[in-house]
Amino acid sequence: MRSRRNFLKNISAAALAAGATPSIWTWALPQTQSVDFPGEDGMILRSFRFVDLETPVEYFNTWLTPVPRFFVRNHMHEPCQLDANDWRLSLGGEVDKPLTLSLADLSKLETHSVVNTLECAGNGRSLQRPEVPGVQWGKGAVSTARFSGPRLRDVLQRAGVKSTGKQVMFRGLDEVPGKVPPFIRSIPIEKALDADTLIATHMNGSPLTRHHGFPARALVPGWIGAASCKWLTEIKVLETEFAGNFMSPAYRFPNRPVEPGEAVKPEDTHPLTALSVKSVISGPSDGAGVKSGKVAVRGVAWAGEADIAKVEVSTDGGTTWNPATLGREQAHYAWRLWSYDWKAAKSGDYTILSRATDTQGRTQPTSALWNPSGYLYNAIDQVKVHVS
Ligand code: MTE
Repeated sequence: MRSRRNFLKNISAAALAAGATPSIWTWALPQTQSVDFPGEDGMILRSFRFVDLETPVEYFNTWLTPVPRFFVRNHMHEPCQLDANDWRLSLGGEVDKPLTLSLADLSKLETHSVVNTLECAGNGRSLQRPEVPGVQWGKGAVSTARFSGPRLRDVLQRAGVKSTGKQVMFRGLDEVPGKVPPFIRSIPIEKALDADTLIATHMNGSPLTRHHGFPARALVPGWIGAASCKWLTEIKVLETEFAGNFMSPAYRFPNRPVEPGEAVKPEDTHPLTALSVKSVISGPSDGAGVKSGKVAVRGVAWAGEADIAKVEVSTDGGTTWNPATLGREQAHYAWRLWSYDWKAAKSGDYTILSRATDTQGRTQPTSALWNPSGYLYNAIDQVKVHVS
């Protein structure tokens, strides 16, 4: 495996130097492990070392994102050897009866489906000013799918959670390079026992692909993507929150608003949980030229654990706002498609804005709360167009 990885590293460097597309991976992987590399489908490559693929916003025109167009966020190498027959999931810690489950065991449990909008906490990071380090996501580290699999709570109840069990930890099977700590995070027991928190084995009706956590991942709906651990291998019930890199210093947010550029002490932060309210314009594209007359403005809006109450569109820089029409397809935790028919009477340069409000009364702010890692960027979205 190591030599294959080195080979891939070498060809990837060469491919990048030559300006080649990542489709080179498709033939480089043995047939048995090959999955369609989403880069072939016009995805934006944000990192090649560990596969990080962003969905172009123009693809946000279906309620469910086709799997090859679903963004991918990996902190490390994907596990090379994943055999569904050999795979086991262990469950231990603060439980009466530790368990080891096979994929066949999971398939015997009642299946539940949740349509969930999964968003990386770092989505929109490139728009933060001053700039912050990290993967420079544009607006497309977010996608929506129907995830299916047994409820996490059914498995936890089978093991019998002790009264001392307050957090549930997930460990992924990522291949950890060098000194990078393993991908381990925990969520509070209340969220773990929620009827919609899953051990997902399927996405849009098909088994998970390797990019998305085959053969099983946690699905923690409405929360930052990092909560939904891929390539699940271990679940452990803990007395306290897991202490490790991906809980701290990563994925934490300042307790109080901070000045842009200000340093924040770790003790003044808390772990990120649910997503913010947000909308993104999927068309027209930023910088597009459009003909005067009727212009279809469209996009998506989501709000983590809340529902979208309304989306408004402004074509005059925010002086006046007009209600957008929300798409019919909806589910708790899932984004809504929206559209607005703009009558662009006069030629000229325009800025189109979109602003979502949710059922908790939260509205997208004009500028997002700056924080040192650029998490949860959710400022009112905008595109500039020229009408001729
Ligand atoms: N799980 C493991 N084991 N390793 C990871 O790197 N990345 C997390 C999460 N689960 C990650 C993981 C992050 S940061 C996000 S945003 C989501 O997976 C992305 O899920 P996706 O790649 O299926 O879109």
